[in-house]
Amino acid sequence: MVEKLEEPKKVFVKTYGCQMNVYDSNRMEDALEQDGYERTSDMADADLVLLNTCHIREKAAEKVYSEVGRIRKIKEKRADTNRPMTIGVTGCVAQAEGSEIMKRAKAVDLVAGPQTYHRIADIVHRAEQGQRPVETEFEIEEKFAKLPAATAKQVQARGVASFLTVQEGCDKFCTFCVVPYTRGAEVSRTAKQIVDEAQGMIDAGVREVTLLGQNVNAWHGEGFDGREWGLGELLHELAKIKGMERLRYTTSHPVDMDESLINAHRELDCLMPYLHLPVQAGSDKILKAMNRHHTVEDYMHIIDRMREVSPDMAISGDFIVGFPGETEEDFEETLNVVRKVKYASAFSFKYSTRPGTPGADMKNQVPEDVKSERLQRLQALLNQQQEEFNQTCVGRKMDILLEKKGRRAGQLIGRSPWLQSVIVDESLGNPGDIVHVEITEAAPNSLNAVLAQKEQ
Ligand code: SAH
Ligand code: SF4
Ligand code: F3S
Repeated sequence: MVEKLEEPKKVFVKTYGCQMNVYDSNRMEDALEQDGYERTSDMADADLVLLNTCHIREKAAEKVYSEVGRIRKIKEKRADTNRPMTIGVTGCVAQAEGSEIMKRAKAVDLVAGPQTYHRIADIVHRAEQGQRPVETEFEIEEKFAKLPAATAKQVQARGVASFLTVQEGCDKFCTFCVVPYTRGAEVSRTAKQIVDEAQGMIDAGVREVTLLGQNVNAWHGEGFDGREWGLGELLHELAKIKGMERLRYTTSHPVDMDESLINAHRELDCLMPYLHLPVQAGSDKILKAMNRHHTVEDYMHIIDRMREVSPDMAISGDFIVGFPGETEEDFEETLNVVRKVKYASAFSFKYSTRPGTPGADMKNQVPEDVKSERLQRLQALLNQQQEEFNQTCVGRKMDILLEKKGRRAGQLIGRSPWLQSVIVDESLGNPGDIVHVEITEAAPNSLNAVLAQKEQ
């Protein structure tokens, strides 16, 4: 018999990758907390360490093994005490590599893929008994239906802006991407599940909800009126919740941008004027090789429509440079798209070959030094655009949602409608307040502001 501990066991979850992993980590923590664990932010003090991993690029996946190597040292020191440490790998590396992880990293006690989290407490118990479980089956609907709802206290602990996954998995199979393999087929949660969860968040004091999905705008389901709804209709329903001050959604795919979603930006005041719409590359030849199912023209058309409906719309995107076959000319076309769109922010990456994806087997891979050089040029342009966008905000008045304390004493950080961090004096209010400010200064990654008079 294991000696009974006075203190509850402590869990530490480290999250890598996308916002959907952040959301999943929250749900796992909530479930484990309801199972008697206590959360800790000190890994060395944890009885259970879960690494919720990302497999999107090679570097992201490799990080996991070096982290396990580090934690192993703590685990070894604790082996002979009455507080042994359990290490688990969850997330997309768990799904992609399964039992291989156990072989490569002997310190790992459990492996659980993204669709098994509704059973996480049970999987952990089995790991604690030394069974070394590896769970990688797909049951997306089960997961969301069976995970316990967060309590108001748990929601509050995370602040006034929450993520809410509405859709998971992907059927698009871009030739560079692991997501369809790690997250499984595209599944939408029901409108009722989503609205109930959002209502719970708002009741607990949340002011801003960001709907998440690998292809969030592919969300669809039966609406409350019996008709088939898309994301536009779902946003309309969520906007009806009293106290829902701000709505966002990410990440969208160009193929699934329909008119109802575009028009929602005109119709709903609480829908923030911000669209994250990855284009990946600016050459039709490369887009075709990527299996993106859209052209540059299709993409530009959506951007134009968005700006027609909401002239204030900030656009953000993702880019991959050096996909197999990308020539200097193709890359120049990517720069041209950037020049036309004028991004408020963006993420850009060197193409990383992922085992098992079609891109990995393509001939004409681009040499590493060429990728690096292109990435540098692209990022220089994107950074410049982000700075310009931030500069245009100086002197502007806007509502910001106060979120949390700033790094320096006496500061609060708020969020602009365009997702910028805005630093203000703490005398302006409390987290959860929406305050009207005037931007006084812009830095590359944040803005400063003072209280503005509401003009009427
Ligand atoms: N579903 C979203 C993207 C999800 S992955 C979409 O379709 O746009 C997030 C980003 O990671 C992608 O937009 C892409 O830019 C990047 N990415 C995905 N696979 C990659 C790879 N093999 N190499 C480099 N970047 C990659
Ligand atoms: Fe990956 Fe493409 Fe699916 Fe996005 S749409 S998750 S890039 S396969
Ligand atoms: Fe990474 Fe999986 Fe998200 S691969 S980006 S954590 S869906």
